[in-house]
Amino acid sequence: MTGKTSTVSVDDKQVEMAVKPGSIGPSVIDISKLYAQTGMFTYDPGFTSTASCESKITYIDGDQGVLLYRGYPIEQLAEHGDFLETCYLLLYGELPTPTQKADFDYRVTRHTMVHEQMTRFFQGFRRDAHPMAVMVGSVGALSAFYHDSTDISDPHQRMVASMRMIAKMPTLAAMAYKYTIGQPFMYPKNDLDYTSNFLRMCFGVPCEEYKVNPILSRALDRIFILHADHEQNASTSTVRLAGSSGANPFACIAAGIACLWGPAHGGANEAALQMLQEIGTPDRIPMYIAKAKDKNDPFRLMGFGHRVYKNYDPRAKIMQKTTHEVLSELGIKDDPLLDVAVELEQIALKDEYFVEKKLYPNIDFYSGITLKAMGFPTSMFTVLFALARTVGWIAQWSEMIEDPSQKIGRPRQLYVGEPQRDYVPIAQR
Ligand code: CMC
Repeated sequence: MTGKTSTVSVDDKQVEMAVKPGSIGPSVIDISKLYAQTGMFTYDPGFTSTASCESKITYIDGDQGVLLYRGYPIEQLAEHGDFLETCYLLLYGELPTPTQKADFDYRVTRHTMVHEQMTRFFQGFRRDAHPMAVMVGSVGALSAFYHDSTDISDPHQRMVASMRMIAKMPTLAAMAYKYTIGQPFMYPKNDLDYTSNFLRMCFGVPCEEYKVNPILSRALDRIFILHADHEQNASTSTVRLAGSSGANPFACIAAGIACLWGPAHGGANEAALQMLQEIGTPDRIPMYIAKAKDKNDPFRLMGFGHRVYKNYDPRAKIMQKTTHEVLSELGIKDDPLLDVAVELEQIALKDEYFVEKKLYPNIDFYSGITLKAMGFPTSMFTVLFALARTVGWIAQWSEMIEDPSQKIGRPRQLYVGEPQRDYVPIAQR
């Protein structure tokens, strides 16, 4: 074996395994031949030490608090770029030239409408359905409406499906919102940029002109950039696993949305705001800190902690700044929730429990306050996350499909159930 290797001893057997270096970040030990050579599997529930794939898209250094999309720091992209530029970067690997950007914006913009029959599909949901339930259903249903882009072996169809999803996600998300509040759906307006169009579809009504606030639009666009990708997190791994069987991309993204919904993942922004509301006033913070530290209490500080970041989440820093910008633009001088959040953050950052476990605010800690101030109900927070993450899911799914060595994902297990036994007829049990 050439290159660096690692040797594992199993019983009396020495097995040599290749060590693959990354361009930055930790190397990996290639254990793919371990079972064939030793008859043993590795065991890593929650994948805390397992790299599931090679990827060139996103890099995170959790100890340093670094997040790069295709090598570019998130801070620079959020400061200087726009969301569609980030989409282009994630999909194609390079920042677009002005011509490429104009062409990309044009292509996305021309796919923003959804099939008219989708509006009738929406009527099947209860009015009080959670918009994430509506998103799981409606995005999955896209595969029933766009048969001409579900053949994953055709690169052109894959590209069309990708454009469709990036373009239609804001339309579906706005429809999910409008449906729950009983207002008419707004058709997209193609002379608006991506995020302004989304704001208009959410907050505009057909009977009057909607004036986009450019500061709020820019802030939301930045929030989309922050959420666009995050390497092999739970929902992305779900999309890859679903896609590894050859399922069509609309179905795979619906699977990703389902996974994102959970409170330990994308649902944390909704849970974080609910927690801040429940705490209510800064004097009640110590009680909640004590609950979070109590081993016998399942309560956790939502918006705190991260599997990968053991330092301040770089997205949380940008989000905090965005929160202040949005509140100031809207003339909100005293937001009691912001007071609670700022104080809670200060107390937790000094508390021994949180310091020792390296629990820092994550992106979801401040995003809820910002989105609420913009007028979104809490039930829409995770929907906005899904909207922004769609490009990351698609980029990761495409990378996997285009990899010639790709095969179906099929983890193994440590079986701890009954050994083989004989069936007992029901009368004898
Ligand atoms: N509050 C109190 N204690 C916590 C918290 C928290 N938010 N997060 C982790 N801990 C403790 C946990 O109890 C454990 O303690 P011990 O070692 O004594 O058993 C230790 O810290 C390690 O936690 P873990 O659950 O083993 O770590 P994990 O990597 O499996 O979980 C996490 C990461 C994000 C699920 C977790 O920190 C959490 O539940 N946070 C709150 C939910 C949240 O904000 N999620 C959003 C993540 S960022 C957005 C996204 O990417 O989706």
